[in-house]
Amino acid sequence: MSVTQDIKSRLDIVDIVSEQVPLRKSGHNYAGFCPFHSNTRTPAFYVFPETQTWRCFGACADGGDLFTYVMKKEGWEFRETLEYLARRAGVTLETAPPVDKAQQAFANKMEDLLGAAADYFHQLLLYAPQAEQARRYVERRGLTAETLATFQLGYALDSWDACRSHFTAQGYSDDDLLQAGMLTENPEKGTRYDRFRNRLMFAIRNVEGQVVGFGARTLEKDGIPKYLNSPQTTLFDKSHLLYGLDLARRHVREARQAVIVEGYMDVIQAHQAGFGNVVAQMGTALTEQQLQLLKRYTKRFVLALDADAAGQKATLRSLQVARETLDRDYEVRFDAQGLVRHEARLKADIRVVTMPDGEDPDSIIRADMTRWPLLLAQARPIVDYVIDTATADLDMTDAKAKSAVAQQVLPLILELGDPVEREHYRQLLARALQVDEMTLRQMPTAQDGRRAAVPVMGQKQVVAKPVSGGGRKTAVNNREANFLRHCLQYPQLLLQINQQLRQARQPELGETDFGQVEDRALLGQMYQQLRYGVVAVRSELWDSSDDVLRERIKTLEKLPLIAESQLDNLAEKLVHSVLDWRCDRIKQRNRELQQLLRVQREEVADQRDFYQQILAGSQELQRINRAKEAMSAVGRRRAEQG
Ligand code: UTP
Ligand code: MN
Repeated sequence: MSVTQDIKSRLDIVDIVSEQVPLRKSGHNYAGFCPFHSNTRTPAFYVFPETQTWRCFGACADGGDLFTYVMKKEGWEFRETLEYLARRAGVTLETAPPVDKAQQAFANKMEDLLGAAADYFHQLLLYAPQAEQARRYVERRGLTAETLATFQLGYALDSWDACRSHFTAQGYSDDDLLQAGMLTENPEKGTRYDRFRNRLMFAIRNVEGQVVGFGARTLEKDGIPKYLNSPQTTLFDKSHLLYGLDLARRHVREARQAVIVEGYMDVIQAHQAGFGNVVAQMGTALTEQQLQLLKRYTKRFVLALDADAAGQKATLRSLQVARETLDRDYEVRFDAQGLVRHEARLKADIRVVTMPDGEDPDSIIRADMTRWPLLLAQARPIVDYVIDTATADLDMTDAKAKSAVAQQVLPLILELGDPVEREHYRQLLARALQVDEMTLRQMPTAQDGRRAAVPVMGQKQVVAKPVSGGGRKTAVNNREANFLRHCLQYPQLLLQINQQLRQARQPELGETDFGQVEDRALLGQMYQQLRYGVVAVRSELWDSSDDVLRERIKTLEKLPLIAESQLDNLAEKLVHSVLDWRCDRIKQRNRELQQLLRVQREEVADQRDFYQQILAGSQELQRINRAKEAMSAVGRRRAEQG
């Protein structure tokens, strides 16, 4: 039994769902209002105790097991959900690699030391006679006593060894202090001295609120560097941190939006003014890991960035990363047929706004805090923003410059999962560049190159053999497992299959195609790897997977592979297999609906809705079947010609 099965067997989905969603008994099952879409008319959300599954028969048209429910409800990743449910089920997860005792002891010591250091600097700022100038500085910058305490702002004395002596007296060694980044070593002379001297200290915390490092602002006019940070260590890795997130996360969830700014002061000033959903990326370009951190709390981001030229470039860099991170999910979950009904739920929304010239969020909020929400409201969707920025000072008589802009923006547009959106932005770009839209379509891009580099397997026609097996459910699961097994072996398959699905006007593979939560996560990982290239995906996949996913990979790899001689039309076979299992899913859903109708004769509204659902299901079945027939016909013709 896999860990997830073990956990599921110990918990009851009805208990867990009803903690947050009022359910009433309806026959054998339970019904309520769907927590994932707003609806107050018909209870379209069902929990089935027998199968321990849930399904929304309303706008979401989604369903799954306990894991998918919690992931969706909390907006968590697989790992977070696993840990949470394991705790609730009393199941101990074996973490790989096991934590080294010495390593753990070291981490604890650093945690204590850094926490104590933050407190030490804070006390100095509040009370030390030598901190008079620093106190005046923070006052000038408009920070209240409460804010100083909330952010634990501090002061490092103007001394080469004050900090060192203080902590040596507390039993810490020079090595400890070096590793915590509080001492600096001169390698030639072998001398060690306080790293932070006469600076305003910002304690940087991880999302749990533990101090992991410091940012330190000079108090001298034109002091260099303006901000001195703790050295990059495994403990303190700026690319994995967001300043203020420990304080902001509650507000981010509440506001359903995170605002990302550039600097410490911007965060502090925003929070002081009551805008608690603000975090800072601390001078680096926004990284994928930072967005992953935030994604637990919201999928709506506003990047509020400084106006200066460097800021402008940083913005474009951030945007690139933002797209790379979020689009992956977007692609994974996106139903390429443009199922608009899913859009609101799936789409991570990234908007960008630049501050007026010469200002930053700190100065704006200080001058007039009412400007802040107004500015944020002007944030533009990412592609609009890029088009605006790229074409702002464009000389319309300069053909080369126009072409360069097209080269820069087109790949971004092609990344969009939604064809309507793609079309929309292609038109927008064409208009902005004053060229014909067809011209843009014909333009080769680096993207095409990448796609073309994917080797395409031969496509002779062979009708997929139906998988024989026990029950219906097993048959579906076997097909899913068989599918993933081959994608593990031949990484480029997934792209080929999606291409064929697109050609057949069917949605690309997405998480909802898989019943098991590990498989959904694996698919997500595969998409991630594919974005970086198609070579050596297996090993990268392995490296980026946790122990639970690795177990699944191992299990999958025990399944038989198709014979070499059959490789030619593997993609095509798998497409048929996917379409078959999708049909089975729809039939299953229709059966469930019919069953629900039988127990709910009295509820007219439900009935009408459910009949419509059944009808929609049947129509979908027809579309899939037509697609299958068309594919077979094409295949047959090709076979006859070849
Ligand atoms: P800014 O130069 O915009 O500083 O750098 P700021 O936040 O507006 O600071 P004040 O208002 O002048 O006090 C933005 C962010 O970039 C990082 C810091 O995180 C800073 O808050 N930075 C900047 C550094 O890490 N090192 C530097 O030397 C400068
Ligand atoms: Mn500033």
